[in-house]
Amino acid sequence: MEFSIKTSAADQVKTGCIVIAVSGGKQLTANGKRIDRALGGRISRILKAGDMPSKAGATHLLSIGKSISRVLLVSLGDAASPNERGFITAARAASTHLSQLAVANCASLLHEVEVAGRSLAWKLSAQVIAARDVAYRFETHKSKKETVAAGVSKMTFLVSADDAPAATAEVARAVALANGMDLTKDLGNLAPNVCTPTYLANCAKELGRSHKLKVEVFEQKQIEALKMGAFLAVSQGSAQAPRFIVMHYQGAGTSDAPVVLVGKGITFDTGGISLKPAPDMDEMKYDMCGAASVLGTMRAIAEIKPKINLIGVIPTCENMPSGNATRPGDVVTSMSGQTIEILNTDAEGRLILCDALTYVERFKPAAVVDIATLTGACVIALGNHHSGMFSKQDDLALQLWQAGQNSNDTCWRMPLDEEYQEGLKSPFADMANVGSRAGGAITAACFLARYTKAYHWAHLDIAGTAWKSGAAKGASGRPVPLLTRFVLDRAAV
Ligand code: BES
Ligand code: MN
Ligand code: ZN
Repeated sequence: MEFSIKTSAADQVKTGCIVIAVSGGKQLTANGKRIDRALGGRISRILKAGDMPSKAGATHLLSIGKSISRVLLVSLGDAASPNERGFITAARAASTHLSQLAVANCASLLHEVEVAGRSLAWKLSAQVIAARDVAYRFETHKSKKETVAAGVSKMTFLVSADDAPAATAEVARAVALANGMDLTKDLGNLAPNVCTPTYLANCAKELGRSHKLKVEVFEQKQIEALKMGAFLAVSQGSAQAPRFIVMHYQGAGTSDAPVVLVGKGITFDTGGISLKPAPDMDEMKYDMCGAASVLGTMRAIAEIKPKINLIGVIPTCENMPSGNATRPGDVVTSMSGQTIEILNTDAEGRLILCDALTYVERFKPAAVVDIATLTGACVIALGNHHSGMFSKQDDLALQLWQAGQNSNDTCWRMPLDEEYQEGLKSPFADMANVGSRAGGAITAACFLARYTKAYHWAHLDIAGTAWKSGAAKGASGRPVPLLTRFVLDRAAV
């Protein structure tokens, strides 16, 4: 899908289909009215007759057969001033309807409608992301690709000449973000026998070559030399070798403290000896979505090229039961020197992350954010809308919350008080790897907090947001929009 900006007058553009916003059930924008006049009032007659449902996302197609061959009316909802949700619903509905038409190119005026508190840039970006998400297919494992209708391959946004330069830059940023999200979705959706730790490492190397990133990959021996005893304890039951991936994007001076992203890369989580129940276990192929979101964000940032230093770190392995697997009760020494009694081998994410979080101290980071499908408890707490966000630094927490709000990829702050640390006490080691069931997402974050005292740190639990179950099963590409926005905002200051 190609996106472009044009400044031609709305009623003179040549296009297979023009998309027009209808708000409050009957209100057209200035250019919408202009097109209506050029069509002798056809649109206003439809609106007057009540043939256009006011529900956000409702569409109505008119065949014209002139230089503008079709008009697609899209509702933004009942409210006189449309809100963000209405806009995004409308953008998705427009893309879905367009994908079913026999037109190659279309023009959009959807962004002409006012959305309270949102800029033209936001409205353009939302349309690009919606169009790319609707167009996304994952058919890597299908022997025959489904025949997709021709659909729209070119989308032009009509803007004023004054707005054109900023609009062009924003559309390019949104395309880079969509490219990053697609990579994250692809990696998440891949079968776990294909997307192994080695596969993720090769993917990082490939990204390094195509996007000029410095990439290091450590193998078993080097991970042992680093004394990552917690990480290795998770990996030891698997026939797949672990990998530790470090990616560097340098957009600022070498002395500029980097932002570091650390992603959980469990390519399959059986639970280990603390085996998970069979139903839905296949979904544990998504347990590397934190890692995939780091790769996707690195890709987006490498394409946007902001003035910031960004490091992506991925500990990746499988969590399998076997004769070599870690037993409940085993005590291991993490890279930090702190010892851990592994009471439940299914609480493996925190074990691979704690060593990665110790490793990144060497970068003297400006901030570290880890991203992990860490706990089922987070899904119970927040459902599938907000990612769980934990931080002791209020400013960092606010930045992440705002980045989520501004990128339609929200997170909700959860507590991290010292009181919750008590649950992790062990009679045999410095700590246990699990507490009681109550507040499970919080004790998991508390565990990580013991390894992140040297820098500003936040943790995102994406267990509820990284993929969708049910009929529309698949990776969501989240939280790449949040992370990319966060990194760009930090570059701006
Ligand atoms: N990968 C899972 C978390 C998860 C579970 C994500 C369900 C999405 C859906 C993680 O490794 C895990 O198994 N966590 C345990 C922790 C428990 C043993 C303390 C959990 O949430 O049950
Ligand atoms: Mn687990
Ligand atoms: Zn897991």
